[in-house]
Amino acid sequence: MAKNFDLVVIGAGPGGYIAAIRAAQLGLSVACVDAWSDTKGKPAPGGTCTNVGCIPSKALLQSSEHYEQADKHFADHGIKVKGLDLDLKTLLGRKDKVVGENNQGILFLFKKNKVTYFHGTASFNAKVDAGWSINVAGDKPEELIAKQVVVATGSSAREFPGLPFDEEQILSNDGALRLTDVPKKLGVIGAGVIGLELGSVWRRLGSEVTVLEGSPEFLAAADRDVAKEALKAFKKQGLEINLGVKVDSVDAGKHVKVKYHDAEGKEHKAEFDKLVVAIGRVPNTQGLGAETVGLKLDERGFVEVDEDCRTNLPNVWAVGDVVRGPMLAHKAEEEGVAVAERIAGQQPHVNFDTIPWVIYTSPEIAWVGKNEQELKKEGREYRAGQFPFMANGRARALGDTTGFVKVLADAKTDEVLGIHIVGPTASELIAEGVVIMEFRGAAEDIARICHAHPTLSEAMKEAALAVDKRALNF
Ligand code: FAD
Ligand code: NAI
Repeated sequence: MAKNFDLVVIGAGPGGYIAAIRAAQLGLSVACVDAWSDTKGKPAPGGTCTNVGCIPSKALLQSSEHYEQADKHFADHGIKVKGLDLDLKTLLGRKDKVVGENNQGILFLFKKNKVTYFHGTASFNAKVDAGWSINVAGDKPEELIAKQVVVATGSSAREFPGLPFDEEQILSNDGALRLTDVPKKLGVIGAGVIGLELGSVWRRLGSEVTVLEGSPEFLAAADRDVAKEALKAFKKQGLEINLGVKVDSVDAGKHVKVKYHDAEGKEHKAEFDKLVVAIGRVPNTQGLGAETVGLKLDERGFVEVDEDCRTNLPNVWAVGDVVRGPMLAHKAEEEGVAVAERIAGQQPHVNFDTIPWVIYTSPEIAWVGKNEQELKKEGREYRAGQFPFMANGRARALGDTTGFVKVLADAKTDEVLGIHIVGPTASELIAEGVVIMEFRGAAEDIARICHAHPTLSEAMKEAALAVDKRALNF
């Protein structure tokens, strides 16, 4: 017999599970259907982010950073390490444990909030009088009737044309998080967020990493000064990054043979033990039954939505990676909350202009708002203030003085238009920038806020002071 709900959410990634919890908090009867299983076939809610994205990548980044610190930097502190050794099995086991705890955490939250969870694949069946009929295929097939539906089916790694992922030699993010040996030579196609984060992990653990990037510009979306500083740091660490490359062919045999042309048009042949392909992601809409009910997709397969995440079908919404906009977990969550509140009759708002971007490399990179090249293109008059971590006492005590904070403010009103950080804990420091921009604060506001000493956050205050050419420590 069909089961009735006010809301059925398809997908339990950060967009879906958060939408389900918020709707349940607001008094709706909610089901959340998710297909993800762990390696033992058990339910593993949390989507890409929890299983093969944000969480495992940050676990490996942390472990590999500890290893590199012990190997290369403890000596600066007078700490001698003898017999340093890498136990990759334990390192990967810890990552899996962190992932498992997050899966369990979501199941606990569903129970606490009375969200009914179904483990299986959902597809639209038909429009019915009471709403939408949704089939769940899995261990226990079900029919659900929903007054409202949220599609939060996420995204998957894009394949290089003609080169399917085998997760043995040709790796997506999934395979790149599961390597059981450190490859001697690792190739990476794409110097985007995944290429840089996972390339950094395996370089720190001992691989010789070569990154092949198609664009002639490094991190095209970042502020140019930030990108330049980061590229310098990554090269110094030993990441080989080739820009403006055209990959011509890839042959996977005993080794992966890659032929490519460099930016000058010169032909190269390279051999790798493994190749990570990280050239962007594609929306998950196959098997959803979109065509059965006429759910409109755009030419790239994303579910078409308006700025409130409404699809072309009545009472059907879509959030997260499966719709336009940045593919970020926190963007998916914000949309999930907003849709749940809209369904419950509230009038929430997601500010797409203040979504922070973070790359969790070392140095970390983070920004919010516009960069200098965007402001110049718009012809906007602005003032810039920059402060290097080299001049920050806490950074010197940490022994990590790479990078800077840059504050961009309107030349007349002083409103903060963008904040760009490359350096230690940029991922945490950017939160202050998001708050100031959300409240449409001025550089002078940051400059007049008391920041604890000695902290890295003082670099933010000093950069804001520098907008008015009155930095105190530089
Ligand atoms: P997803 O997390 O992809 O979840 C979708 C879920 O829906 C999945 O569980 C899927 O199995 C399920 N599903 C799909 N179709 C169906 C169906 N028909 N029936 C039932 N279930 C279905 N973002 C950040 O903000 N910070 C980071 O540090 C970060 N690191 C990342 C690292 C990597 C390696 C990768 C790959 C991504 C990273 N991201 C990060 C991006 C982030 O993971 C995504 O933006 C986020 O997961 C999107 O959430 P979502 O809910 O839209 O989709
Ligand atoms: P990406 O869009 O960040 O980078 C892809 C890179 O591949 C680009 O630089 C592009 O120019 C390059 N490229 C594309 N086709 C190419 C080709 N044929 N040859 C050579 N280079 C090519 O995509 P990525 O790294 O796959 O990550 C996908 C998304 O996942 C990110 O955009 C981000 O939204 C999300 N993510 C977020 C993280 C975070 O927030 N820290 C971490 C990891 C992923």
